[in-house]
Amino acid sequence: MKIIATTSLSDYIDDNFYAFLAESGLQYIPRQNRSLPLLQSEYQSEGIVVWYKGGPVLFIGEQKFFFHPNMAKNRISLYRKSGITDPLVTACEIKPGDRFLDCTLGLGADSIVAAYFTQGSRVTGLESSPIMAAIVEWGMKLYQHESPWLINAIQQIEVVKCDHYSYLSNLGDKFYDIVYFDPMFRKPLLKSQALSPLRILANHEPVTQESLQQACRVARKRVVIKEQTSSGEFERLGIKKIVGSSNNKINFGIIDCTE
Ligand SMILES: C[S@@+](CC[C@H](N)C(=O)[O-])C[C@H]1O[C@@H](n2cnc3c(N)ncnc32)[C@H](O)[C@@H]1O
Repeated sequence: MKIIATTSLSDYIDDNFYAFLAESGLQYIPRQNRSLPLLQSEYQSEGIVVWYKGGPVLFIGEQKFFFHPNMAKNRISLYRKSGITDPLVTACEIKPGDRFLDCTLGLGADSIVAAYFTQGSRVTGLESSPIMAAIVEWGMKLYQHESPWLINAIQQIEVVKCDHYSYLSNLGDKFYDIVYFDPMFRKPLLKSQALSPLRILANHEPVTQESLQQACRVARKRVVIKEQTSSGEFERLGIKKIVGSSNNKINFGIIDCTE
């Protein structure tokens, strides 16, 4: 997919934009008051990243893709207000000080929840879609909110643009406490999600046995995989211990690495 980068109509540019361009390798096209559809047809691009003070937004036709922590904020708020523990935290048994490796970062909601509960420990999020990694990384860096607990959790996350197999293969034994996978579901849960920007941009490959073996070597405590219960993925990967999430169509498969 050809993607270009430009500014908003106000032509706002800062040093972060230059750093974003250098990191993402996207071609910069000066806006010069042109509409996005016009730029899209002039440069024959399918997507345009527009740079705003609050972070980059990728436009694909009528749809937008940008970092926003709303789901993570709601999940953490539920715990803060009512003491209800998030199913991810229960499945992963996240404790303060745990080092958490998220092998499938996506929009980073699970990483943010994990970061909040590890309370300042190392949280790394791996994303193999280069454009998603760049948008989420810079969206996280520039996100502003009045709640320090949310900002601290977001800023605790290191985003790495890479395939999880190669990253895992280069790590030492037991380098993280928890290694987590949330691969794309074979079929979206809701029909409305079928053509969402995330589904268009994401890597849809299933988790391989090789990646799982590496994860088991790298995790000190446990490897956890989130999957659709009916997908057959737990059986394919030989995972026997399965615990429920808040949505019974989705479960967490658990490999205990301490046994
Ligand atoms: C379902 S999304 C994850 C959602 C995420 N848990 C959240 O809370 O926002 C899966 C993500 O993993 C990424 N992904 C899939 N295979 C990957 C791989 N081999 N290495 C790194 N990232 C991968 C996809 O591109 C996609 O963004």
